[in-house]
Amino acid sequence: MSTRRRFLQIAGGAAILAGGGPARLLAADAPFGADVELQLTARPGEAGLLPGTPTRIWRYDGEVLRGDPRTLSFLDGSGHIPLLRLMRGQRVRIHFHNRLPEPTIVHWHGLHMPQPMDGHPMYAIEEGETFTYEFEVDTRAGTYWFHPHPHQRTAYQVLQGLTGLLVVHDDEEQSLGLPAGDLDIPLVIQDRRFDGDNQLVHLGRRRMDWMMGYAGDHVLVNGDVDYQRQVPRTSCRLRLFNGSNASTCQLRLSGGRPMTVIGSDGGLLEFPEQRQQVTLAPAERIEVLVDLSRLQAGDELALLAETWSPRLQRLTDRQVTGELRDGGRVIARLIAGDEQRPSPPLPDRLSVYPTAPSLEQAVTRRVTLSMMRGNLTLNGRVFGGMRDVADEERVALDRPVIWEFANDARMGMGRGGGRGMGMGMRMLHPMHVHNVQFRVIGRQMAEEPDSVLESLGRGSIDNGLKDVVLVRPGERVRVLMQFADHTGLYLYHCHILEHEDLGMMRNFLIESA
Ligand code: C2O
Ligand code: CU
Ligand code: CU
Repeated sequence: MSTRRRFLQIAGGAAILAGGGPARLLAADAPFGADVELQLTARPGEAGLLPGTPTRIWRYDGEVLRGDPRTLSFLDGSGHIPLLRLMRGQRVRIHFHNRLPEPTIVHWHGLHMPQPMDGHPMYAIEEGETFTYEFEVDTRAGTYWFHPHPHQRTAYQVLQGLTGLLVVHDDEEQSLGLPAGDLDIPLVIQDRRFDGDNQLVHLGRRRMDWMMGYAGDHVLVNGDVDYQRQVPRTSCRLRLFNGSNASTCQLRLSGGRPMTVIGSDGGLLEFPEQRQQVTLAPAERIEVLVDLSRLQAGDELALLAETWSPRLQRLTDRQVTGELRDGGRVIARLIAGDEQRPSPPLPDRLSVYPTAPSLEQAVTRRVTLSMMRGNLTLNGRVFGGMRDVADEERVALDRPVIWEFANDARMGMGRGGGRGMGMGMRMLHPMHVHNVQFRVIGRQMAEEPDSVLESLGRGSIDNGLKDVVLVRPGERVRVLMQFADHTGLYLYHCHILEHEDLGMMRNFLIESA
């Protein structure tokens, strides 16, 4: 333990020293009083992603300065992906240092934040600078994450390795006796491409490639192309997170075993759901329970992924990692260990949702996702100035609103009717809204979906609270939400990171009513 950390633990809140680092930290506590304090750094590094030469990456690194040292750890696998574990209600201070050769800023995806803490690109800091975050964890227990959000460089930086997981616990969740500790297993799924020397390959400059989105031929789980982990023979809680830039996965278990879905983006579902298959679009999270209690020691339970590009090309056949099984690639294997533990019964009811915003009082606004003059737009607009907001992008605090995301695939067509950028493209767009968890209240397809679209839709978990929703071509999805506590400028965008960077992102402004 560093001297400084020991000092902080011993001294508690009392600033007894004059001058020097620790005293300054303590003095700064007067207005905020952090329960947990960390430093987090974005810096170049290396990771063993493939056998042989290490891959040069960018990564988050950090250290707990105050509070429970288990607040920050790194996932198994390659070891470069941080996991931040926080308790609801905790007051957190994070000193974020940029040691990258370009500007960056951290966004806490899915959390409820005052505007200056949300990581809007207007707050990006230069190399060598520090941004200090102070916030109270004001979100339901669940699986969230953090990532860079600088102007037009998000796709690049995330691909370079900047991704962190953020798990929030609360009393409601902890009273359920869900599998915890070594039975609580986060799995971060990301596809990547490498050159012959194991180095990451990014997209070039062609606009068309950015429209299509990045597609990797290697699927990594926790930074490992051949992820496996030995687990006791009992029920395990998997936190599945699609951290890919653009690819959507359909996940199944080997042997057709069912999974019990217990949570989605915004935490626990009210009631568990049995599924054969789940869909995870970029940035979506799902928590499932899997049961290994009937396996023999040494047996394996494999997680299979079938992967789709935004243009609905099946990527599975082009992938070079993972055995092909039942139409999917094996991306992770849980190996049943010698130890057997009883599987505690799953409570019928997992959680109580906060009161839903009133449907009757909600005003509806349509957000049309379309291709216009070679741009991916939201109601015909791309991201403009840092503070640019249209009239229809103003929302009132504490008023229920419905946003209808309309992926009218044919919009923007008609100019020549040929192939290419002038015409509408059938594309998946996972839409994300900052600072809120919404409810999916309706999906409507313009025409009978083909079998791929049908099965992608069937695997979506719409019952929970969500911050990302997959909108299929020809589909309109209505989400109901209500903004609380914070006013200011936030973002909504497509979470295909190449689309976001191309400008398929807009500000919205929360104003006090
Ligand atoms: Cu994870 Cu603005 O997004
Ligand atoms: Cu976000
Ligand atoms: Cu998109």
